[in-house]
Amino acid sequence: MSKKVLIAYASRAGSTAEVAEKIGEALKVLGFDVEVKNVKEINDISYYDVIIIGSAVRMFKLLPETIKFANRFREELQNKSVAYFIVCLTMHKDTEESRAQAQKYIKPLLEIKEPISVGLFAGKMDYSKLSFVWRILFKGRVPEGDFRDWNSVISWVNSLSEKFS
Ligand SMILES: Cc1cc2nc3c(=O)[nH]c(=O)nc-3n(C[C@H](O)[C@H](O)[C@H](O)COP(=O)(O)O)c2cc1C
Repeated sequence: MSKKVLIAYASRAGSTAEVAEKIGEALKVLGFDVEVKNVKEINDISYYDVIIIGSAVRMFKLLPETIKFANRFREELQNKSVAYFIVCLTMHKDTEESRAQAQKYIKPLLEIKEPISVGLFAGKMDYSKLSFVWRILFKGRVPEGDFRDWNSVISWVNSLSEKFS
């Protein structure tokens, strides 16, 4: 029987939600039974064999609802295959340094349950969606653009799916 996979994401401006959807599509193509949901809409994870938790990063931290979700289901997660992914601007350049920084963001999740895989993905920055204050703070310091690399997302999904036990 095909594995039942839940992709539980937290997103503010939508780019992480789109990465979650892309992961879901790729897993469906591979024949898995997949649901993609915002962590805030999930009340029960008992149906699923695999839980993939994904979060945007803001101010050097995962979104708070991500940690809340993982803590809420901490006990159940111990008996499932779990993977994590983050979407952040740190990864807009894939270097050893940026990977080390991105790994730090994931740490609170690693303490809850050891994952079978971690995906570190570049995100999107659209100044027009920021408040005036953020725009002033970010201008010249934070690059604007959509840095999501869909090939790297798909290749992560392919390697991840081989680890589903
Ligand atoms: C207010 C704000 C703070 C951010 N802080 C960080 C950060 O500390 N580190 C980082 O790598 N990216 C940071 N980012 C970039 C986001 O992680 C990136 O834009 C991501 O794609 C947002 O995901 P979302 O569209 O799902 O909300 C920040 C973005 C915003 C708007």
